[in-house]
Formats: sequence, C-alpha cells, structure tokens
Amino acid sequence: MNNMIECQHIKKTFLDGKIEQHVLTDINFNVQPGETVAIMGASGSGKSTLLHLIGGLDKPSAGTINIAGKAIHTLSEKERCQWRNTTLGFVYQFHHLLPEFSLLENVAIPLLLQHQTITQAEERAKDLLAKVGLGDKLHRRIGEVSGGERQRAAIARALITQPGCVLADEPTGNLDHDNAQKILDIMLKLNQDFNTSLIIVTHDPHIAHKMQRLLLLENGMFAE
Ligand SMILES: Nc1ncnc2c1ncn2[C@@H]1O[C@H](COP(=O)(O)OP(=O)(O)O)[C@@H](O)[C@H]1O
Ligand SMILES: [Mg+2]
Repeated sequence: MNNMIECQHIKKTFLDGKIEQHVLTDINFNVQPGETVAIMGASGSGKSTLLHLIGGLDKPSAGTINIAGKAIHTLSEKERCQWRNTTLGFVYQFHHLLPEFSLLENVAIPLLLQHQTITQAEERAKDLLAKVGLGDKLHRRIGEVSGGERQRAAIARALITQPGCVLADEPTGNLDHDNAQKILDIMLKLNQDFNTSLIIVTHDPHIAHKMQRLLLLENGMFAE
C-alpha cells in the first residue's frame, strides 16, 4: 500500500530580524496507513513546527510533503482547507472546543462544514462520543465537563470525518497520568477501528512506548 505521509528533505528556517533560525534541517520519514508514530524532542526542537508543515498550516522552506498521494503545498488555499478537513484530524494540548456549544455540537461541526445535514452529523457525533465514553454528556457545555472529558471530546471531533491521519500535539500534556493513559488508549483503539495513522508529539515516555515507532528530533533531524 502507498504511504500515508511522505516527507523528503524538509527544511524550515525562520527569520528573526536578520538572523536565520534553522529549526528543521533535513527531515525524512514516511508513515504507513494505520501506523502509530511518536515524535519526541527537547522543547523548542521543532516538533510543533513539523506538525504544522504536515498539516498544511505552514510551508517548508525546502523539501516535499505528500499526504495520501497529494503534494499539499501545490494546492490552492481553498483546496488545502477542504483537503485538511477531509484527510486530517488534529488534537492539541488545549482542546480548542467552542465554549458556547455543547459537546454534541462541537463534535458535529466538521461534518456540517462538509455540508452534511444536522441529523446526519449529530447521529455520527453521538456515536463517536459514546465511543470515547461521553454518551451520557452530549448536551453539556465545555465548561461543564472535566479536562479529561474535554480532551476526549476533542478526539471525537478529530475523528468524526474518518481522517486518514490524526496529528496530535502533546494531547495529554495537560492531564494527570490516569487521564493521559485513558486518552491514549482511546486514541489507539480508534486508530485500530478506523485504520487511521497516528502521529503523537509527546514528552511522556510511557505514551511514546505504546506507539509502533519512536522518532527523536535533534538538531533539526530525526536521530532514530
Ligand atoms: N512562526 C514562527 N516564527 C518564528 N519562529 C518560530 C515560529 N514557530 C516556531 N518558531 C521557533 O522554532 C523553534 C521550534 O519551535 P516549536 O516547533 O514550537 O518547538 P517544539 O514544539 O519542539 O517545542 C523555536 O525556537 C521557536 O521559537
Ligand atoms: Mg510544541
């Protein structure tokens, strides 16, 4: 089968005034469909920068990124947004759920953006919220559930479009050990059910060791 993600000779340089900061110097890696990968590295080593590039939120200074066979940086802004909403799911350290809305509404939003009907979207959102153990809290607002529950809702939202790949940037960084384990187990279970590739940036070695592959980012490259 084809690779889900292909990164070749990725470089990313930021300009800070007149000083160039070479954050990523030569990143090469592929991810198979359904594969789980942990990315570790010191704070400031460029982990979030790399996820932004893979997610098409920023452009590499050099190199190519193919996701599900598409060279994402050749797409127009509009195509890229559509592509992102159907191909990728994102989970962040902070949940980024909308406080004015219920869990059910928050999780349904990506499908509404794809022009599915409210009934279809909510049906599917209920299903996923049940899968992450929130079937009895559908109508709670974000402020009315715990941090771990918010993060589980964020995972349901990331997976509702059945993306080929989920990108998670320190998804358990804000949680205690028990909740972190629970979140990870849910992500791995859903990854298996849907054959979704999963890339997790984490500082937690327990989490990293549950992934099939561990990549260590050092001096702008992977030291496997
Ligand atoms: N948009 C940006 N503009 C300038 N510098 C940036 C930008 N994003 C990240 N950086 C710099 O790149 C380096 C890596 O940042 P980041 O990818 O957030 O690290 P990590 O996620 O590994 O902690 C940092 O030194 C940061 O200051
Ligand atoms: Mg980061």
